[in-house]
Amino acid sequence: MSDRQTPAARPANPRFSSGPCAKVPGFSLDMLADAPLGRSHRAAVGKAKLKLAIDLTREILGVPEGYRIGIVPGSDTGAVEMAMWSLLGQRPVEMLAWESFGEGWVTDVVKQLKLDATVRKAPYGEIVDLAQVDFDKDVVFTWNGTTSGVRLPNGDAIPADRAGLTICDATSAAFAMDLPWDKLDVVTFSWQKVLGGEGAHGMLILSPRAVERLESYTPAWPLPKIFRLTAKGKLIEGIFAGETINTPSMLAVEDYLVALNWAKSIGGLAGLIARADANAKAVADFVAAHDWIANLALDPGTASTTSVCLKFTDLRITDGEAFAKAIAKRLEKQGVALDVGAYRDAPPGLRIWCGSTVETADVAALMPWIDWAFHAEIAELAKAA
Ligand SMILES: Cc1ncc(COP(=O)(O)O)c(C=O)c1O
Repeated sequence: MSDRQTPAARPANPRFSSGPCAKVPGFSLDMLADAPLGRSHRAAVGKAKLKLAIDLTREILGVPEGYRIGIVPGSDTGAVEMAMWSLLGQRPVEMLAWESFGEGWVTDVVKQLKLDATVRKAPYGEIVDLAQVDFDKDVVFTWNGTTSGVRLPNGDAIPADRAGLTICDATSAAFAMDLPWDKLDVVTFSWQKVLGGEGAHGMLILSPRAVERLESYTPAWPLPKIFRLTAKGKLIEGIFAGETINTPSMLAVEDYLVALNWAKSIGGLAGLIARADANAKAVADFVAAHDWIANLALDPGTASTTSVCLKFTDLRITDGEAFAKAIAKRLEKQGVALDVGAYRDAPPGLRIWCGSTVETADVAALMPWIDWAFHAEIAELAKAA
C-alpha cells in the first residue's frame, strides 16, 4: 500500500489555512500600489479609502442603511471584546459556545466581566439547542465555529421582536454565508478570513438597537480608550465614517479594498457564497465516497461551508492525534496543503478552509492527496504493528 502512486494533479495554490486565509485569486503585491503610504489616515486621501472600505462592505454584505459599520483595532477579537465590554451588563446574558473561540467569549464574560451569565455549550460537532435560548436576554454566539466546522443554518430561531441584543462573532461566516441582519444587533469579523485580507483590523456592525443601548447605558466597569464607542453619552459617529479610534494600516486597508473589488467582480455576495458552497461540496463529495473519513459536524444542515473540519474514523487508528498530525505533515511536505491540521483545542483531524478566495479546482485536486496520505499512514501503522 505504501508504494501507492502520488496523485498526478496538484492544487495550484496549497493555501488552505483557516486564517489568515488564501489571498484573492491572482493576488500580487503590485495590486497595493495605490495605498497612501506615508500619509496621515486623517488626510482626505486616507479618510476616503477608509470610508470606501465601509461603503463597499455595506454594499457587498447588504447591510441595511440604519446599521453602522466601523473599522476597529484588534482584528475580530478587538471587535467582539469592544462589543461585549460596551454593551453587556444592562440585562441578563446568555453565552452560547460550540468551539474554542465561543468558549473564549464565555470566559471573558464570566471571569473578566464577572457577569452571572447562563452558559450553553455544545460539544465539538454540534450546536446548542436554540429553542431553549431566551432572546429577551443579551445573547453572544459565534455564527460559524471555525475550529469545529459547525455553523448556524439560519437565524430562524432568533425572534425579530426580541428584547435582548444578539452579539454575533461572524468572522468565518461573513461574505461566505447569508447573515440575517434583522436578527443580529452586533456582527463582527476580520479581513483575514473569507476575503483573504490581513489581520489587525476588525469590523464592528451595529444595529439601531445596539446604538440605542450604547447611548442609554454606561457599564459599571472602566473602558480603555481603544474600546470607547461613545463620548458624552452619544455614539462617536466618526468611527463609522472612517475616522478610526487610532492609527490603522493603510496597507491593510488597500488590501481589503482589493479584496472587496474582487468580490464585486465575481458577483458580490451571491458569487462569494457560491464559491464557498462549491468548495465545501467538493470536500463533502469526497467524504461521502470514503468510509474512513467523516465531517466533524454531526448534522449536515449545520456543516460549515468555510472551515470544513474532518475526522478519521478508521478503526485501525489507535492514536487519533498522531495519525491526523502525520497526515497534515505529509500533505504539507508534498506542498499540496498548508496549515490543514485541526485547531489545537479541537478533536484530531483536518480542517480545510473552503472560503471564497479558495479555488474549487484546488479543493478538488487536494482530495486524492488526502486519500493517498491516508493509505500511506495506514501502511506505516501496519509496518509498525
Ligand atoms: C470564530 C473566531 N472568532 C475569533 C477569532 C479571532 O480572530 P482574530 O485573530 O482575527 O482576532 C477567530 C480566528 O480564527 C475565529 O475563528
